[in-house]
Amino acid sequence: MATRKVLVTGACGFIGSCFVRTLLARDPDVHVVNLDLLTYAGNPKNLASVEGSSRYRFVRGDIRDEALVTELVGDVDCVVNFAAESHVDRSTTEKAGAFIETNVYGTFVLLEALRLHRPTARFLQIGTDEVYGDVEAPGFPDEHSLLEPSSPYSASKAGADNLALAFSRTHGLDVIVSRCTNNYGPYQYPEKLIPLFITNALDELELPLYDGGTQIRDWLRVEDHCEALLLLLDRAETGEIYNIGANQEPERSNAEITEMILECAGRSKSLIRPVTGLRPGHDQRYAVSTQKLRALGWAPQADIEEGIARTVGWYAKNRSWWEPIKSGEYLEFYERHYGLSARR
Ligand code: NAD
Ligand code: TYD
Repeated sequence: MATRKVLVTGACGFIGSCFVRTLLARDPDVHVVNLDLLTYAGNPKNLASVEGSSRYRFVRGDIRDEALVTELVGDVDCVVNFAAESHVDRSTTEKAGAFIETNVYGTFVLLEALRLHRPTARFLQIGTDEVYGDVEAPGFPDEHSLLEPSSPYSASKAGADNLALAFSRTHGLDVIVSRCTNNYGPYQYPEKLIPLFITNALDELELPLYDGGTQIRDWLRVEDHCEALLLLLDRAETGEIYNIGANQEPERSNAEITEMILECAGRSKSLIRPVTGLRPGHDQRYAVSTQKLRALGWAPQADIEEGIARTVGWYAKNRSWWEPIKSGEYLEFYERHYGLSARR
C-alpha cells in the first residue's frame, strides 16, 4: 500500500478497531492516528493489541473540534472516517441531534480541514447501505440508486455521504464513499442484533425479536468489510461510491439468524421474546449490488453459518470484554428501551 500516515476516526468502535488492527498488521510502514471521543460505544480495549506499537497513536477527541482536526490532518496521506453515532434505536428513541452533530457536522469539519490544510489527502467516508432505505425483493440498489433513508441514523449518514461527494465535485478533494451492509464479529457493542442476542443467549436472558423477525439484513463479517476498505484505499477511483455486502444466498431473516445463534450457543428457542413497536419505520429488507467492488477482486471469505459459529465462540471466550459493558448506561438504555431486565 502506498499510504503512509493514516488518520482513522472512531477506531475505538467495532469496525474501526478491526480496520486499524488489520492495517497495522498488513503494512509495516504505515502510521496510524486514532481520533476517538470515547462515547458509550468507544472502548480502548478494542485496540489493546496495538497499544504498544510505535506506529499507533490514540488521541481522545471529537471530530467536531476544528482546531484539533486541523492539527491532526496536517501531514496525513489519508483519512478514514468511522466516527459516528451508529445505533438506529438510539436515533429514534434518544435525542437524534447527536446523530446530526457527529455524523453530518463532524464529517463536514473533517472535509473542511482537508480542503484548507491537506487537499491532497484521500478521504474515505464509511457509509451504510441503509441510505437506500427499504429495498423491495428482489431489488439490489447500485451506487446510483435513489437515497431513501428511513431513520434519523440513515438520513444523517446520507447527509454525510452527500457532503463528502460535494467536496469532491466542488473542491476537488480525493473522496471515496463506501456503503456497507450490516456487520458482525468480535468487539461489537452488544446493542446491535447479533452481539446482543449472543450475549443474552449465553446468559440465558430473553432475545427481544422485533416485528415477527421476518426482516432481511445482508450480514457481512467485519473482517471481510475491512479487507474491502483496504482494497478501496488503494484501488478506488476518486469521487466514486462503492457498495459492500455479502450478497447472502439464500437471504436470511432475523428469525433465522436468531435460531443459528441459539443453536451455536446451545440454548432453547424459548428464549425468543417477540416484541413490537420498538423500531418505528422498521425497514423490511436491505440488499445492495456489489458488482463494482467485486470487479476490483474482492469477495467475502466466510459464509454466514461459519461466521456466526465463530462469533458465538468469540463472545463465549471473551466474557471479560462484554460483561463490564453490560452495566451502568447500558442497563439504563436497555431497561428503558425494552422494558426487560438485562440482569442475570
Ligand atoms: P460504533 O458505534 O461501534 O463506533 C463508533 C465510534 O465512533 C466509537 O468508538 C465512538 O466513540 C466514536 N465517536 C462517536 N462520536 C464521535 C465524535 N464526535 N468524534 C470522535 N469519535 C466519535 O460504530 P461501528 O459499528 O464501528 O460503525 C463505524 C462506522 O461504520 C459508522 O460510521 C457506521 O455508520 C458505519 N457502518 C456500520 C455498520 C454496522 O453494521 N455496524 C454497517 C455499515 C456502516
Ligand atoms: P440492528 O442490529 O440494530 O442493525 P440495523 O438496524 O442497523 O439494521 O438491527 C438489525 C435487525 O434486527 C433489524 O431488523 C432490527 C432487528 N432487531 C431485533 O429484532 N431486536 C433487537 O433487539 C435489535 C437491536 C434489532
